[in-house]
Amino acid sequence: MVLVNENYLKLKAGYLFPEISKRVSLHTQKKSSENIIKLGIGDVTEPLPKACVKAMNNALKEMETHAGFKGYGPEQGYIWLREKIANNEFLSKGCKINPDEIFISDGSKCDSSNILDILGQDNSIAVTDPVYPVYVDSNVMTGRTGNPLEEGGYEGLTYLPINEDNGFKPQIPQQKVDIIYLCFPNNPTGATVSRKELKRWVDYAIQNNSLIFFDAAYEAFIQDEDIPHSIYEIEGAKSCAIEFRSFSKNAGFTGVRCAYTVIPKTLSGKNLNGEKIQLWSLWNRRQSTKFNGVSYVVQKGAEAIYTKEGKEEVKHLIDFYMNNASIMREELQSSGFTVFGGTNAPYVWMKVPETMSSWDFFDYLLDKANIVGTPGSGFGKAGEGYFRLSAFNSLDNVVDAMNRITNI
Ligand code: MLT
Repeated sequence: MVLVNENYLKLKAGYLFPEISKRVSLHTQKKSSENIIKLGIGDVTEPLPKACVKAMNNALKEMETHAGFKGYGPEQGYIWLREKIANNEFLSKGCKINPDEIFISDGSKCDSSNILDILGQDNSIAVTDPVYPVYVDSNVMTGRTGNPLEEGGYEGLTYLPINEDNGFKPQIPQQKVDIIYLCFPNNPTGATVSRKELKRWVDYAIQNNSLIFFDAAYEAFIQDEDIPHSIYEIEGAKSCAIEFRSFSKNAGFTGVRCAYTVIPKTLSGKNLNGEKIQLWSLWNRRQSTKFNGVSYVVQKGAEAIYTKEGKEEVKHLIDFYMNNASIMREELQSSGFTVFGGTNAPYVWMKVPETMSSWDFFDYLLDKANIVGTPGSGFGKAGEGYFRLSAFNSLDNVVDAMNRITNI
């Protein structure tokens, strides 16, 4: 028999969201007719922007002809999309990112995991607790951690707790860590970081020759002007940070699949001889070998996000979900819950009643109100006692869900 990857055996439980789906389907087997409102996984519910649909239809029409047919595209993405992203997301905000430093992909989840391919096994790694589980599980799967710890988490990872006391912002580690995962606006807590706070991380990374993985998948939900959308707004970040971005949440592409990762050419690691190696070249090599790019049709859809109509429609989607978040915050607060997030992020992070664990509250809400959320402990042990509600749903469902919760 073949040997399996033993690292997978260290994984403590199934991936969080399938585990939630399993519990929900057990619940529906018992109470099938009831109307469940899903505020669990952060999956969008509103239809695609018309500008994107039109562009994708046109692209398909082109492909119907000999003249317009496209086979394999560039593994890094079509240059016209990379230019649009560079101009609209970075250059317009003073960040000097070149189109060829942008790699188009089918998702930030895959990129934030695949990026480990180009980095050594022995790097020390820091994650926040709670954290988007993909960061931790990818490190476990690739053998970069030890065994699971009884009290939660894995041996060998540095956990940076985020909690009410620190405003859900991780403290800079005392010791040197090679790789740090930061996600702002934060999934799951909805917390954000100011330019000054982010600069401290960039300074730390430069001083310690560390690499920051900056997950900015939720940047489009930022409402306050003084919150940075990109780590490259901070001087020096081009020498210490990789940024992950996505069209999933802003333009509703969770089912279409398009994202991008920024790897500045100025970013280096070193080999065992201490020689500097450009990370861009390694990622370019990795993508050329293991990835055949995102489809032409999808990239055309993504390009349309940057048209006048596309921008207006995306803004409308963001406003729509942020209005949901604000209703959720208000309703939950007025019925006595302590609530965080939801002002610059589509996630509301609430405290569960003291007598319950996060999973108890999950079961309770499902049983009493037919509402699905995400237990905070699913994001790490410091998430225990909290619960995440996603603002991705229809207005009617959000209003209904809040009525149900407040009237249990
Ligand atoms: C979440 O609910 O945390 C997100 O859907 C995760 C993701 O985007 O993969």
